[in-house]
Amino acid sequence: MNDLADRLEELRGRGLHRRLRLISGPQGPRVLLDGRPVLLLCSNNYLGLADHPRVRQAAAEAAMRWGTGAGASRLISGNMGPHRLLEQRLAEFKGHEAGLLFGSGYLANNGAIAALAGRGEVVFSDELNHASLIDGCRLSRAETFVYRHGDLDHLAWGLRRAEGRGSLIVTDGVFSMDGDVAPLPGLVELAGRHECRLLVDEAHGTGALGPGGRGAVAAAGLVEEIDVIVGTLGKALGGYGAYVCASRETVDYLINTARPFIFSTAPPPPMVAAAIAALDLLESHPHRVERLQAGAHALRDELAAEGLAAGGATQIVPLTVGEAERTMALCERLLEHGIFAQGIRPPTVPDGSSRLRLTVMATHRAGELRHAARVIASCARDLGVSAVPSPPGRAEAPLAEAA
Ligand SMILES: Cc1ncc(COP(=O)(O)O)c(C=O)c1O
Repeated sequence: MNDLADRLEELRGRGLHRRLRLISGPQGPRVLLDGRPVLLLCSNNYLGLADHPRVRQAAAEAAMRWGTGAGASRLISGNMGPHRLLEQRLAEFKGHEAGLLFGSGYLANNGAIAALAGRGEVVFSDELNHASLIDGCRLSRAETFVYRHGDLDHLAWGLRRAEGRGSLIVTDGVFSMDGDVAPLPGLVELAGRHECRLLVDEAHGTGALGPGGRGAVAAAGLVEEIDVIVGTLGKALGGYGAYVCASRETVDYLINTARPFIFSTAPPPPMVAAAIAALDLLESHPHRVERLQAGAHALRDELAAEGLAAGGATQIVPLTVGEAERTMALCERLLEHGIFAQGIRPPTVPDGSSRLRLTVMATHRAGELRHAARVIASCARDLGVSAVPSPPGRAEAPLAEAA
């Protein structure tokens, strides 16, 4: 009965025990962490909208006008004006016929994948996909073929082997822990050739890539070719909740079959109104996206100048260290120097590829990023850690530590 203590002890022994840290105040570039002032380098508030006055105001006003909760699921009595408006706005923004809100990105991926694939079919999933896609595949009860990270030949082999049972390919657009972009043109080609649907999770692409921050799919000019886009409101859009964009028929199907949509209370009106305000800001101030991209370039360059090779190609800047303990030692050392860059360990990333996952925000100043790179390099040197670009995938997971 009391094996939980043993299991916790085992996690501690492997350097994998987690604890909650406490942030005081809103998510800005500088926060108080457990009472200590730090530069925040691991938030997904990429565009600085979570703490933007107009977004906060919209949430406050919606709370007064519509109340704090929707009171029921959408199919009972929880479908309100703001839900419909936000769905239309998201569909227009993403260039799809229709949109559908979910409680979170985790739920949207679970719900959409489990609805679109089923027993007797095969789902194809990149090995570095986010846990919500992985769990969606599990829930679908379809057979899952996990292809090597970004490896189109491996995927093509799996599709041939499925002999027509393939129903869905699922991928992160921007990989959440690696910051690289999926090979979307090749995925579209294979999906078309094998008559599979393609679902792209734009959690980290929206607000960060493509024209006006429309995402990795728009950046690749492939909006018309993708069957299902999933996005979250909890990262660049600064709130909470998520959405699917797809054809009207697909959305109608999800309304009727996606269990996290059917069996869960509708998103609260203040969160929906906050997302509408965030979209307004994104559309009227697209330079925020450029600032984010410029900041990411600057941080990579500064790290390279310090001899640290970061992975990825976006606002997610991973510094792969290797062992979990060494990664957390570096994370703690950085905190002592006023930098908060959370260490990421298994099972979030493959064994042997623990890393600092640095994330840039449009609100970081160039001087802050320069300072961060110098401090990271100096702490890494003190601890004898040399970061290398992220390993190619779970299968290989090599790692690098220096003496
Ligand atoms: C790629 C990806 N998809 C989905 C999610 C889940 O989104 P949410 O935080 O809205 O549940 C995340 C992050 O948490 C993610 O990184």
